[in-house]
Amino acid sequence: MERIDKLLASTGKWSRREVKDLIRQGRVLAGGRPVLRPEEKLDPEAVRLTVDGRAVDCAPFVYVMLHKPAGLLSATEDPRQPTVLDLLPPELRRRGLFPVGRLDKDTTGLLLLTDDGDLAHQLLSPKKHVDKVYLAQVEGRVDGEDVRALAAGMVLEDGLHCLPAGLEPLGDGSSCLVTLREGKYHQVKRMLAARGKPVVSLHRRRMGPLVLDEGLSSGTWRFLTAEEVSILRCSRRVP
Ligand code: URA
Repeated sequence: MERIDKLLASTGKWSRREVKDLIRQGRVLAGGRPVLRPEEKLDPEAVRLTVDGRAVDCAPFVYVMLHKPAGLLSATEDPRQPTVLDLLPPELRRRGLFPVGRLDKDTTGLLLLTDDGDLAHQLLSPKKHVDKVYLAQVEGRVDGEDVRALAAGMVLEDGLHCLPAGLEPLGDGSSCLVTLREGKYHQVKRMLAARGKPVVSLHRRRMGPLVLDEGLSSGTWRFLTAEEVSILRCSRRVP
């Protein structure tokens, strides 16, 4: 059983204060009858909650797709620099969302934020083989030798062992798609630098089955659909 004000605020659509107002105005119904007090409790699995006649999905976890701009840290907080959490409304920040994996400050593109620790673990574990696809612009041109080197699994100068990775040159080779199944620190940049093709810019397009929504401009976000969440939950690349 959960408090109704907490359940409604946890959707990220309203603050607790707004929820109180909605209840006072008689706009919230539980199982068809008006909710009288914010502290009333119910089982969200068993009782249908509506606001203004529309059903509210009180899922236990929140999943957000963010188009990360350059210049923000992939962290929940930082004493000096802005983080990706600054792009979300206060209700969502209060829920304790965190980024699933990190993108460098200057990397742009798909970032998933959630409070679902199990799903985050599943998506980040190299054992689960969830591919991450990056579009990289490089100095110089990537070629077949680079493709073979990444496919074989590189060992970098500092001893870092990289799992086999995909490399697909695009156009004249000054840009390429890199597919990783792990996420070590600066991994794409370090692998391509080791091939003598330093990265000029990096953008994540895809994480497992989740593709960055083209309708999201840089710095904007949306909730994942129920279908996207369930596809993510089952995501495992067949090796
Ligand atoms: N690899 C990098 O080098 N940077 C990122 O932000 C992500 C992958």
